[in-house]
Amino acid sequence: MSPDAETTGHDLKHVKRLLDFEPVADDFAAAVIAGLSADPKSIPPKFFYDATGSDIFNRICETEEYYVTRTEVALLKAIGPEIAKHAGPGVSVIEYGCGSSDKIRSLLDALDGPAEYWAIDISRDHLLKSADAIGRDYPDLGVNAVVADFAAKLELPDQMAGRKLAFFPGSTIGNQTPAEAEAFLTGVRAVVGDAGALLIGVDLKKDLDRLSRAYNDAAGHTADFNLNLLHRMRAELGAELNPDGFEHRAFFNQDQSRIEMHLAAKGAQSIRLGAHEFVFADGETIHTENSCKYDIKGFQALAARAGFEAVQSWTDADDLFSIHFLESASPAGGARNYGPSRFVPG
Ligand code: AVI
Repeated sequence: MSPDAETTGHDLKHVKRLLDFEPVADDFAAAVIAGLSADPKSIPPKFFYDATGSDIFNRICETEEYYVTRTEVALLKAIGPEIAKHAGPGVSVIEYGCGSSDKIRSLLDALDGPAEYWAIDISRDHLLKSADAIGRDYPDLGVNAVVADFAAKLELPDQMAGRKLAFFPGSTIGNQTPAEAEAFLTGVRAVVGDAGALLIGVDLKKDLDRLSRAYNDAAGHTADFNLNLLHRMRAELGAELNPDGFEHRAFFNQDQSRIEMHLAAKGAQSIRLGAHEFVFADGETIHTENSCKYDIKGFQALAARAGFEAVQSWTDADDLFSIHFLESASPAGGARNYGPSRFVPG
C-alpha cells in the first residue's frame, strides 16, 4: 500500500514505501559560530544548498567551464550496457542523495529489469517528488523513499529484491576528506552486503587551468554560490555583515589534490552574530569547500580500504571524469583490478 497523502502531505501514488528517519535539520547558527571561532575560519559546504543555493548549483552545472555534470551524464549513457552486464538482472538500486533525475534514469534505462529503487535524501519534499515521478515513469519498479542524512550511519532493510547496487554520482564523494570518504564508503559496503556493488562518479586530477576555470566560471555563478552563504547568514540568522566586503576565491591545492573554495575579506571586516563578533584581517578567508580530485589508482585504493574491489573504471575521451563499478571484496581478498577503460565516442 502506498504511503497516504494525509501523513506525507504528498499524493504518493507511485511510491511503495516511505521510511522517514526524521533527520534533525542542521543547526546553521551553531555551525557558523563554531566555524568562525576556529582558526582558520570555515563553514561546512552542506550549508550551500538552501533553495537559492540549489538553483545556483544547477546553473553552475550548465556552464561551459563546469565539465563535471555534462561529462558524467554522457559517460553514464555510453557505458550503460557494460554497467548492466556487471550488475546483472533484477537489482535493487540504492541512490545516495537523489540529485539529477537524468542520471538515475540513464542507469535504470540501462539495467536489466531493475526490481527496486531506494531513493535516499535529507530533503523530504524534493525526495518525495522525485521518487513519485520515477515510480510513475517506471511502473514495474518498486520505488521506496528514505528520508535520512546519508552522511550519518544509515540502516536500510536487509530484505531487498535481488542484488543491492548503491549509486553515488556527481563526485559528491570529493566534497569529503579522504578519511571521511573512506568511512562513508565503509558504511555503503555494510548497506549493500557481501553480494553488493557500488557505482560511483569521481572527478579526476587534470590540468590546473581547466580545474581553475571550472570553479571560477566567467558568468560568476560559482562566486554567487559561495557568497550565498553570507546572504543566508544575514537573512536567516540576522548576522550583521557586509556581503560586498568578501570575495569568492577558488584554487587548486596541489599538496591535498583538491580545489578549495574560500570567502576572502576585502579589507578589514567583521561579522556580528548575536553576542559574537568575528573580525577578519584584509585577505583572511572563510574556508567553505574542498573538492578532492583523484586519479584512478588512488580512488581504487581508497575504495579497497573500505572493502570494495574495482571491477571496472571508465573515463571519458579527455580523461576529465571517471565512473567506477565496485563490488564488495570477498573476505578471501584477491584484487580484480581491471584498470580504466576509456570511452571514445565512435
Ligand atoms: C556537488 N559537488 C560535487 C560540487 C563540486 O564540484 O565539488 C559542488 C561545487 N562547488 C562549486 N562548484 C560546484
